[in-house]
This record gives sequence, structure tokens and C-alpha cells, in this order.
Amino acid sequence: MHPSVWYRDDFGPRLSPACRLVYNRWSGIADTDLPAHLHRVRDRAWPVGQYPCIGQWMFLLPGLAGFPEFPSMVDLVRQREATVLDLACGLGQDLRLLAAHADGAPTARWWALDLEPRLWELGYELFGDRDRMAAHFVAGDFRTLDLTGDSPLGPLRGHVDLIIANQFIHLFDQADQREVIQRIMGLSRPGTMVVGFQQARRQPRADARPWGTMFFHSRDSFVALWESVQHDTATEWTVQVREVDLRRDWGLQEEDVAWMPADQVGIEFVFVRSH
Ligand SMILES: C[S@@+](CC[C@H](N)C(=O)[O-])C[C@H]1O[C@@H](n2cnc3c(N)ncnc32)[C@H](O)[C@@H]1O
Repeated sequence: MHPSVWYRDDFGPRLSPACRLVYNRWSGIADTDLPAHLHRVRDRAWPVGQYPCIGQWMFLLPGLAGFPEFPSMVDLVRQREATVLDLACGLGQDLRLLAAHADGAPTARWWALDLEPRLWELGYELFGDRDRMAAHFVAGDFRTLDLTGDSPLGPLRGHVDLIIANQFIHLFDQADQREVIQRIMGLSRPGTMVVGFQQARRQPRADARPWGTMFFHSRDSFVALWESVQHDTATEWTVQVREVDLRRDWGLQEEDVAWMPADQVGIEFVFVRSH
């Protein structure tokens, strides 16, 4: 599949109220200036990250703000000591979503990781917050990154409250997805919450992409994978995985799903470690 199928010229109706609030309140950008600003930064991000999340403006959708658990995420990050990790942060919109809705929450104990540091850099321009977003950025491949001792993410091991994995785990084949989940569990402690959303299929299957093989889970196969890794790591989690409709629940447009097979759905997950 060629990435050009994911490129949409205009953001059209995709800017959700929850994200508009981030640009207005956190970034101080007026509605009149927003369209030109969004186009300018998005068009610089596209050559760096040719994913649907950028080409189809998915970074403007409600994302975590559409979860019924979003208020409890906001309450959690309002706590001064809350430690947050955004895996595959892209432009970093999810940390800004939390920062804007948590109104003044401290961000110095927040971390963002991505393979592509230029996307995180463009995030400072997108949100105009280099002076206020104090999150630490780590560049690297989460599948192989050193997570021990005094490596950049080492201090988070056993101390992270909230891990965000939006549109991330599904990027890989089944073996790498297992590895990623094992690593997430390795960073956790009892009480850690792991949240995210990704594309899924009613019939689970692999599909080729420019960056490698993706395995698209169904709701049930994703639960089975999580529970299998939970067994291997001797941890226990409360597991909530919801199947959602990409148009009704996320706000994707007809043209955004036209390249997907007929059994396309989304899954949203919230895992909380109990033991
Ligand atoms: C589909 S985008 C999702 C970005 C963001 N979380 C969102 O929901 O819009 C995928 C992101 O994963 C990053 N990525 C891909 N492979 C990665 C890896 N192995 N480790 C860390 N980040 C990776 C890409 O650079 C890109 O920013």
C-alpha cells in the first residue's frame, strides 16, 4: 500500500472540540489562525511520518478524550508526582491533550518516546509550547531500547502511573507485539494504567505496510494476546477492550476508511495492573 492513499489535503471536519480546546487554551492560537497553522505544520510532518495519523489528520480526532475513562486520566495527571509515558508519541498531541484538560498539571514527570525525533520537534511548533512542555523526549525503537538501570527510561521501571500507546502496538507483527506488551508490563507496577486505541479487523490478520508487517487484531484476539503475556510475566490486570466504529466513534470520514477492508473497526483499551 502506497502512503499517498493516506494523504488528505484539507482537515475539513476532522478538528474535534477536545483538540480545538488544546490549540485555543494550551497553545493560545485563535480559531482564525488555526487552519493556516495546522496546514503549515502538518505538511512539514508528512514527509517525516507517512502514517494515516498524519496524512489523514488523525491527530485532530478526540482520541483519548473520547474515552469514558478520560476524566480519571485527567485527575491522575493533576497529581504532582504522576509519571506518564507516551509510547510512539508522534507529534506529542496526547500529552498536550492531557496538559490542556488538566489545566496547569506539572509535565516534568512526563516522558515521550518515538523512533522519529523530528516529529516531537515539530510538536513544539504545532503547540507553541517549547517554554511550557517539560516532558522528556527519548528517541528510539521501543522493541530494542535498553529499559534498565540508568538508561533514559530506566527510572520509570516500576514507577509509571500512566502509559499511553495510541496507534502503536498494531504497527508490528505478532512476535513484536508480544515483545512490546512484555516491555510495557516490565515498566509497570501494581496500579499502572495502560491506555490506547488502534485500528482492528473483525477477522484478525496480517497486512503489509511500508514499515513492515502489521497484525490487525480483533477485540478478542487482542484480549487473548494481552492475557497470554500477562500469564508469562506473572502480572495481573483488569482488562477492558472495546470495539468501536471508526466513523461514529472516532470521527473518521468516508474517504478515510475507503482504503480499509469492509471488516475494519477500532479497538480502545484500558488495562490496570492489579498485582
Ligand atoms: C501511527 S503513528 C502514531 C502516533 C501517535 N501515537 C498518534 O496516535 O497519532 C506511529 C508512530 O510510531 C512511531 N514508531 C514506529 N515504530 C516505532 C518503534 N519501533 N518504536 C517507537 N516508535 C515507533 C512512528 O515514528 C510514529 O510516530
